[in-house]
Amino acid sequence: MCGIVGYVGPRSAQEVLVRGLRRLEYRGYDSAGVAVAHNGSVAVSKAEGKLDRLVARLEEAPLQGRSGIGHTRWATHGVPSDRNAHPHTDTTGDFVVVHNGIVENYRELRSELQDTGVRFRSETDTEVLAHLVAAVYDGDLKEAVRDAIARASGAFALVAMTCHEPGRIVAARMISPLVVGLGDGETFLASDMPAVLDYTRRFLIVEDGEIAVVTGDGATLETIEGEAVERSPFTAHWDSDSVQKSGFDHFMLKEIHEQPEVIARTLGGRLREHPGGGAETALDELSWVRGDPADVDKIWITACGTAYHAGVVGRTLFERLAAIPTEVAYAHELRYSNPLIREGSLALAISQSGETADTLAAARLARSEGSSLLALTNVVGSSLAREADDVLYTWAGPEISVASTKAYLAMLVGESLLAIWLGRARGVLDTGAERELAAELRALPGKAESILGDLDKPRRLAAELARAGSIYFIGRGLDYATAMEGALKLKEISYIHAEAMPAGELKHGTLALVTEGTPVVAVATQQDVQSKMLLGLQEVKARRATVIAVAYEDDDEIGLVADHVLRIPRTADVLSPILAAVPLQLLAYYTARRLGRDIDQPRNLAKSVTVE
Ligand code: M6R
Repeated sequence: MCGIVGYVGPRSAQEVLVRGLRRLEYRGYDSAGVAVAHNGSVAVSKAEGKLDRLVARLEEAPLQGRSGIGHTRWATHGVPSDRNAHPHTDTTGDFVVVHNGIVENYRELRSELQDTGVRFRSETDTEVLAHLVAAVYDGDLKEAVRDAIARASGAFALVAMTCHEPGRIVAARMISPLVVGLGDGETFLASDMPAVLDYTRRFLIVEDGEIAVVTGDGATLETIEGEAVERSPFTAHWDSDSVQKSGFDHFMLKEIHEQPEVIARTLGGRLREHPGGGAETALDELSWVRGDPADVDKIWITACGTAYHAGVVGRTLFERLAAIPTEVAYAHELRYSNPLIREGSLALAISQSGETADTLAAARLARSEGSSLLALTNVVGSSLAREADDVLYTWAGPEISVASTKAYLAMLVGESLLAIWLGRARGVLDTGAERELAAELRALPGKAESILGDLDKPRRLAAELARAGSIYFIGRGLDYATAMEGALKLKEISYIHAEAMPAGELKHGTLALVTEGTPVVAVATQQDVQSKMLLGLQEVKARRATVIAVAYEDDDEIGLVADHVLRIPRTADVLSPILAAVPLQLLAYYTARRLGRDIDQPRNLAKSVTVE
């Protein structure tokens, strides 16, 4: 939510900042701005709307200078506008700040500052930070930032610069993520690594409660209390290719197509050859699993959005394959529900970014109640990864499109591995069952690839869906979880109303809305409930709905009730959500495309929701 970039070095700061913002635009695209220091002053350029509007302004009036800060905004306080765009300056224009997150006590700070004669030019919470930094500045920007953030409460990251200290940028992390990129005679700051992968892969993470002072020679870190911090840089595995569209029209389509490889990468090294033949799960990377899995008496899964849907699948996997009672809760609900979490339980927090504010808060709550915390996340070094007792990484690579696709599949693969491992360790699955599932897992990349081999059908069906006002997604058991994900994908990028429900629930009310031609997308892969699913579809057909089913390629019966069938290769039913999600992603993509939507950056959304 909001993206921050900073640069000090020999290059044109404007160029580095704009390139960084382009990579961070998925974090927010309500406005963008840069500030560049040059010849004893700081020049600011900003524009409401997407980055291209700022770029157009910069083409007309470029900013010279070799150090600067930039911002791409997802509005929280104040409408998207030039005025509310970052960077914000103090009254003199000597101090400039960008900020990600929320200053909770900004109203009090604002009125205190107004009492001293400060006139505000924006409606943002951020502007108070610029005035505060200027008010306490006494020759050292680092100390001014320290004093300013001591007065502000909330979860945020702040980056400040002043014309009085050219070639120096000061940043502070109060929960919201920040990384330093180390180059040769140049240094970068960013909300996350993709912003500067074109320049470096060597990073330092700024931890919560730390201040970073950045110059062209590198960065020094210290705590808010002033204690120096020594931290070794690490090299990111991601490279700049992974943050390019590589010939695809949208990141979403590229990321959908990466899924076979992502499944293989997430499985990689976690399936080990068994001496007796076949493969078994191996999760040696988790110290927690080296304990006694029999001790886990309950799993609490918490997450938001698509990651929550992965959690809904996880619940069934852990219950069915490992016989562990499992609850799944939206993080923002769990936090305020006084959950009966006890010692001996395991909290599984799922988050692609590892930075979702609600998920982090729920994970902390679960831990404070005595459960251990396992993170299932895609981002190495993310807040969630660093706070958890153990991390199971999903090796999906950077996901740029706001609509999550490959990260979702990787989460499902991670959960499947964990559930199978737990099942065997707890004696619920015998070796034979484990090997069968391991063989099915290994076959998934090829099967996902074959779904992507037929884009024609989802493309054609999208023409029909694009005309709809409302679309219903139904399924039973694990298929219901897939239906939820399909509906979310469709609505977030096509802006068509979509609603998912368990197939059996339709007749308890919503069927009243199903009339001739209403599209009903039915996920029908779970064999134990297939006959019930078919009966339900008959009822829907009787209302002359248009039924689009997702079903196994050898399912002959489904064609008798559905108008259209999107086929997936057969697999174990517990793994089918991994494949069944793919045609639904494609349906959503092509529908949105038909409607001319902004697929990678849908309105009002941001990739990483770092505010509560
Ligand atoms: O980074 P996270 O996995 O924690 O993000 C959670 C949700 O914000 C995210 O999945 C969101 O729902 C996606 N836009 C869905 O495509």
